[in-house]
Amino acid sequence: MEFGKLLSWEKKDNQVILSYEKNQVILSVIKDDIINVFVPCWEKEHYSKSIEGDKTLPTEWQVEQEGDKIVLTTSKLKAVAGEGFFIDFYKADGTPLMEEFRGERKKGMELSQKSIRLLEAEGHDVSKLTGAFYPVMKMMKLDKEDKFYGLGDKSGFLNKRSYEYINWNSDIPQAHNEDYRSLYKSIPFLICLKEQAVYGVFYDNTFRSCLNLGKESQDYFFYGADDGNLDYYFMGGESMAEVIGNYTYLTGCTPLPQFWTLGYQQSRWGYECAGDIKEVTSKYRELGIPCDGIHFDIDYMEDFKVFTWDEAEYKEKGKLIGELKEQGFKPVTIIDPGTKAEEGYFMDDEGREKDYFAKDTEGNVYVNEVWPGESHYPDFGRKEVRQWWADHHKFLTDMGVCGVWNDMNEPASFKGELPLDVVFHDEARTTNHAEMHNVYGHYMCQATFDGLQKLTGKRPFVITRACYAGTQKYSTVWTGDNQSLWSHLQMMVPQLCNLGMSGFAFAGADIGGFGAEATPELLSRWIEAAAFSPLFRNHSAKGGRRQEPWQFGEEVVDINRKYIELRYQFLPYLYDLFYQGEKTGLPVMRPLVLHYEHDKNTYNMNGEFLVGENILVAPVLEPGVDKKMVYLPEGTWYDYWTGEAVEGNQYILRDAPIDVCPIYIKAGSIIPMYESAQYVGEKPYNTLYLLTTPGAGSYEHFRDNGTDYEYQDGKYILYRFTKDEQENLVTEVLHEGYEAYEQIVVRPIGNK
Ligand code: NOJ
Repeated sequence: MEFGKLLSWEKKDNQVILSYEKNQVILSVIKDDIINVFVPCWEKEHYSKSIEGDKTLPTEWQVEQEGDKIVLTTSKLKAVAGEGFFIDFYKADGTPLMEEFRGERKKGMELSQKSIRLLEAEGHDVSKLTGAFYPVMKMMKLDKEDKFYGLGDKSGFLNKRSYEYINWNSDIPQAHNEDYRSLYKSIPFLICLKEQAVYGVFYDNTFRSCLNLGKESQDYFFYGADDGNLDYYFMGGESMAEVIGNYTYLTGCTPLPQFWTLGYQQSRWGYECAGDIKEVTSKYRELGIPCDGIHFDIDYMEDFKVFTWDEAEYKEKGKLIGELKEQGFKPVTIIDPGTKAEEGYFMDDEGREKDYFAKDTEGNVYVNEVWPGESHYPDFGRKEVRQWWADHHKFLTDMGVCGVWNDMNEPASFKGELPLDVVFHDEARTTNHAEMHNVYGHYMCQATFDGLQKLTGKRPFVITRACYAGTQKYSTVWTGDNQSLWSHLQMMVPQLCNLGMSGFAFAGADIGGFGAEATPELLSRWIEAAAFSPLFRNHSAKGGRRQEPWQFGEEVVDINRKYIELRYQFLPYLYDLFYQGEKTGLPVMRPLVLHYEHDKNTYNMNGEFLVGENILVAPVLEPGVDKKMVYLPEGTWYDYWTGEAVEGNQYILRDAPIDVCPIYIKAGSIIPMYESAQYVGEKPYNTLYLLTTPGAGSYEHFRDNGTDYEYQDGKYILYRFTKDEQENLVTEVLHEGYEAYEQIVVRPIGNK
């Protein structure tokens, strides 16, 4: 990107407009710790698909020229722009945050044509090896101690430093390895934890983009995009939590879900008929393993045609759903975007008549292949198309379906990727696949969310595979087609932690693994590790071993029951975290570094996580092991199972036989719990239990009807529990708009 000399600058409203010889740069003060940098190298508009409305807050700020530099200051940040469009960010006190790299890009990654031919002959993916050039690009200085977090679902470990990632939603059926650069989601949001400070950057550009975080050189990291504007939000903050708060201030927080959605869910591709599903749900009840969600994969449709029902195999419309609901199950049905190309099929007829499908450059409806065979792709970037799609959910909600699972929405295509020039729209503006690919799932989820909200009046339960930054407002996510591999169990922890730090508080991985075949030990360890993961669903693929707990013998059934019951006991705590997260943007499942960012031991902590601030989970993630090396950060922690007090700031070795997942509760905790139930709604939660650990502390607990939006009109009860060093506990009702508990029972653990 060329800029040349800075010719002039002006201050206008909340902006500083810098005019260079060859380009313009606009700095906008969004609030005292968020500044947007915008280079309209493609279009004059931002066209943000993830930020809704104007986020600008009235803010005091100044700008002045100091020599050849333009210095913009707020009470929290300082941005310094100079010749050739270098822009450095500092804290207001001068502490360096993100500074530009002023050296030359490292060469030498390019391969000769001969080497490329040889590598390709053996099937290597050479695109992973060469240093690509990007027309939209920014290079930043990398300090020795910089660590990177965020970026959504990218594979590998917690700290993303020294890796390169590509934001291009990709359907990857192969085992996701550490070196995969793209998975299903594109969330170009990065948190950089420096030795003395922290900051975040959100690159709001939906075209294919790259974040090379020190892979090419340890001197710099870079962002590059194939097209679009350079449009990034620089975010300050005194802590990682504040940076996440800023990011979710821009792109939205995960909304409070329905209470039952936090329960356990069973899925499989495919239960091939009503009998298969009934057998599974009845077995759950017979074995006394709690379960709420039951998922219908593509098999329930006629010829995989969306918004149809195969009555031959799945009983007449609505009957099976009704029967399952009588057992306390909440049915969730899959919906794919690919709409079967077939004359006479109402979705295809309507879509073509109304001109709602993507087209090729010649003006013909674009065709590729997915499950139904030749299919058309709804142009979800248009409001009227989303509205049409949303309305069709009536077919499902009329039957009593409780949630919708959006799959294959990268969008997937079996006959090669959609060409970049396939014509899509961003509302009225005509554009192409290159721009809309990464937001295809995002807009599909918005349609699903709007449909379910309007049709049911409840908080929609949507699960999606593909998404973009900001989709958290509409949908939960799962991490796609993982496999029954120990390495994928291990990856679940950093993957869900990074999704959480990227705004997606409601995320989960397929428990037991989707592809390949689980062993009894793997499923046992997986259910233990996932018991506190926000989305709690066992799912597996056709062809592989069935994966319900009873397929693996009695011991596995007992372990599943133990951890699923544990989950149901902690449901009010998880729900409280969602209630708070709706305001703060903070996730449920958190890496240790989020609360202990000055503790080096947490920077690459891949095998443990926090649930909120008070619970630390250290699951066993390897086969054949009955001990776990647990790191406890500063403070006193109490072993959940034994009540033993353990001083933090050290590693300890905890016995972890096959049915034990080490769990620790922080000193001074007050944690709300319920008695376990077979499903949410089985019996009223009249008693609240408070798990306490020694030490002073305070906690707020929220309760409402758990389903709709009445809480937004004050129909909720908010308790505050406060405990002093002498263990005197005081209960206050801060807001009284919903039934109080009949009793509150304190269950102390620890030695007091
Ligand atoms: C791919 C999804 O990732 C998987 O979860 C689902 O079972 C299959 N599609 C079939 O619908």
